[in-house]
Amino acid sequence: MVILRADALEFISRSAGQTRRLGLRVGAMLRTGDVLALEGDLGGGKTTFVQGVVAGWGSPDRVTSPTFVLVNVYHRRDEQRLYHLDAYRLRGPQDAWALDLDAMLAEGPLVVEWADVIAAALPAERLTIRFTWLGEAQRALAFHPQGARPREMVRQLRAAILRGV
Ligand SMILES: Nc1ncnc2c1ncn2[C@@H]1O[C@H](COP(=O)(O)OP(=O)(O)OP(=O)(O)O)[C@@H](O)[C@H]1O
Ligand SMILES: [Mg+2]
Repeated sequence: MVILRADALEFISRSAGQTRRLGLRVGAMLRTGDVLALEGDLGGGKTTFVQGVVAGWGSPDRVTSPTFVLVNVYHRRDEQRLYHLDAYRLRGPQDAWALDLDAMLAEGPLVVEWADVIAAALPAERLTIRFTWLGEAQRALAFHPQGARPREMVRQLRAAILRGV
């Protein structure tokens, strides 16, 4: 079920595979400098979504949760990098400033789990995706774009979903 609003988009996923496929579509759109800010429930499906994102972006690398390592980097043949950060163990934006997110964003897209913890350290223009646990296999994914480029991504995603591709 897809709920459509002016620029937000809400999606109910009924399986991990469905969440991965949604990630695949988003990943295929990602460019250098794009920021995905993932927020929401523990076990909400953020890392599962990133598995799709990384594959859709074009990397064969295996995606694991960076909860303990803080940041994972994925590669693809054109030398771009996709950085996957988990802010769960950070205390706040002050911890993120030391990571030099700008350097990461110069090399490729950035995907952040628990982005709300370091919100003030993230670029204002970003696509926030909020994950809500609804049941054993059900999750709600709410897309909230901030800025022109994220809004365009949501517009493209909505169009693709409506076309059923
Ligand atoms: N519809 C669904 N979408 C995503 N994951 C689902 C769904 N249904 C069941 N799952 C399962 O829920 C778990 C989600 O775990 P995942 O690590 O992706 O969540 P997370 O939000 O990254 O957790 P954390 O808060 O620990 O970072 C996985 O085991 C996945 O298989
Ligand atoms: Mg996770």
